[in-house]
Amino acid sequence: MRAAFTIRVLDWPEALPFARPIREQVFVEEQKVPRELELDDWDERCEHAVACDFRGAGIGTARLLPDGRIGRMAVLGEWRRRGVGTALLEALLERARKRSFRRVTLHAQTHAAAFYRRFGFNERGEEFLEAEIPHVEMTLELFPARE
Ligand SMILES: CC(C)(COP(=O)(O)OP(=O)(O)OC[C@H]1O[C@@H](n2cnc3c(N)ncnc32)[C@H](O)[C@@H]1OP(=O)(O)O)[C@@H](O)C(=O)NCCC(=O)NCCS
Repeated sequence: MRAAFTIRVLDWPEALPFARPIREQVFVEEQKVPRELELDDWDERCEHAVACDFRGAGIGTARLLPDGRIGRMAVLGEWRRRGVGTALLEALLERARKRSFRRVTLHAQTHAAAFYRRFGFNERGEEFLEAEIPHVEMTLELFPARE
């Protein structure tokens, strides 16, 4: 049975109180990403998917940039492997399709590449380091050109 949680897609002012603490816990505390790298100027221009538990507490988040990049995908440790990441990504892919993006791209932490492959993302190029964590670029064609 799918665990009880809700997904909303929000602008930054509404998403911030949920997304900031989740990203702080997952990226800064758990993965030791420097806070100054976690914080950037893109949030104001993104759509943010936010997952909340039945009490309304934030448990996961991800963002869609105006150029079709997806990023900052984070689910709290105790909520992982319960479908939250899938629901966040599906919500952002639906937004990307509605906005007629031809493709979406992301920098996947290499350990999470299998998660994105399930949605049809393919790796492009070599592995590289971001915040000292191995990453690989991945893309998903949303409206492949017809032969
Ligand atoms: C990656 C992450 C967002 C996945 O979220 P999640 O809520 O656990 O994902 P789901 O429960 O929807 O997973 C669906 C499936 O994806 C696969 N999957 C999930 N996390 C995976 C991982 N780290 N590695 C490989 N496969 C993974 C599994 O097959 C899983 O199905 P299963 O549980 O039946 O085996 C989450 O592990 C996370 O926040 N990690 C820490 C932050 C991070 O690394 N973010 C990614 C930045 S690119």
